[in-house]
Formats: sequence, C-alpha cells, structure tokens
Amino acid sequence: MSGQTEPPASPAVPSPGLEQIPAVFHDDIESVLIGADDIHRRLDELAAQVDVDYADRELLLVGVLKGAIFVMADVARRLTIPASMDFMAVSSYGSSTTSSGVVRILKDLDTEIEGRDVLIIEDIVDSGLTLDYLMKNLRSRKPASVEVLSLLTKPTRREIELPIRYVGFEVPDVFVVGFGLDFSESYRGLRSIVTLKPEVYAG
Ligand code: PRP
Repeated sequence: MSGQTEPPASPAVPSPGLEQIPAVFHDDIESVLIGADDIHRRLDELAAQVDVDYADRELLLVGVLKGAIFVMADVARRLTIPASMDFMAVSSYGSSTTSSGVVRILKDLDTEIEGRDVLIIEDIVDSGLTLDYLMKNLRSRKPASVEVLSLLTKPTRREIELPIRYVGFEVPDVFVVGFGLDFSESYRGLRSIVTLKPEVYAG
C-alpha cells in the first residue's frame, strides 16, 4: 500500500452558461440559449434606444403579467427619461403552450392612456395573437402612440404580422423558459433563457 488515495474524479464539464443557474435546476436544462450577460447587454441597448426615441415625451410602460415582470423591471431601471409603469393581466383561451387569440382581461390598467405614449413590455411574442388583441384594445383608448418592446420573438410561429419596435432576440421554435417565461409556473426566475429536457415537460 503506498498510502496514496485515488485522485478525485474530474468534475463534469458544465454546459456553457450553466454556472449562472442554481444547481437545483441543472438536471432539467437541455441548453442555455441566451446567457444572462447577453440579455443584460441587449437590454442596455434597447433601453438606450427608448431613451432617445421618447425624449421629452410622457412614456407609460405597460407590462403584460406575468412573464414581462423582469423585462419591465430591467428596462424601467435603465431608462434615464421619466416613465410611469402599469400592468395588465390577460388570459388566453388555448392550451398551455399555444394561444387562441381569444383573450380575456383579468387585470386592466389602473391609468387612463388617452393622449399618452404607451410602450407594451412583453417577454415573448409567439403567435402574436395576444399582442394583436392588446394593441387593438389599447388603441381604442386613443393613446398618442402604442409600441412594443419584447425580449424574445419567435418569427416562425407568427400567425399575425405585428410591428414590434424593440426586439431583444429572435429565437427558434423551441420551448424556452427563464427571465419571466415559465413552464407550469416554474423557471421564471432563471437569469438566462434556457431550453428544458423533453422529459421535463413531456411527463
Ligand atoms: C405568454 C407571453 C405573451 C403570450 C405570447 O404569456 O407572455 O403574453 O404568451 O403568446 P402569443 O404570441 O402566442 O399570443 P402567457 O399566456 O404564457 O402568460 P404568462 O406571461 O403569465 O406566463
């Protein structure tokens, strides 16, 4: 006996980006699609553009609950122009992963928007049906303008063409969670956008 002990096994090489995600989630994650640093760099750019575009105007940010909460917070605190915040909650009649375009308002705005510049904040635009309803609904209240900022867009899933003025990232037609996006109300708090292993949502 030499008294030597076996060297510890080399730690498994983590998938790129996993180090920014709590270990308890690692087994569920297939890949990190957009890392937290890239998201924050992009939000810096988008907020800077909003600052320029809305200088000297009265901006109202309208977050669409629940997914938009982190984008809303991160955009709002980057702006150097004054901006108010309000929220809407809508329910789409569809399956858990697709929307039907028939939308019910669960929580309406607290404020009047007539004559105001409205910027809808979304986490993702998928089919576009939710946003189409929201834009029509808000335009009927005669705001000065209605534009959209969305962290993610899935252009290949679009059923209605919509003008999205500020887009963070285009993503392929894969199921993504994190940064506000959930699966069964989990994973919203992840700082990155990730894909889940199929067994997580198939079971
Ligand atoms: C998501 C997202 C958008 C909508 C996009 O919300 O936040 O509002 O779906 O889908 P569409 O473009 O196909 O209409 P969801 O209904 O999942 O609610 P949540 O934000 O509370 O998770």
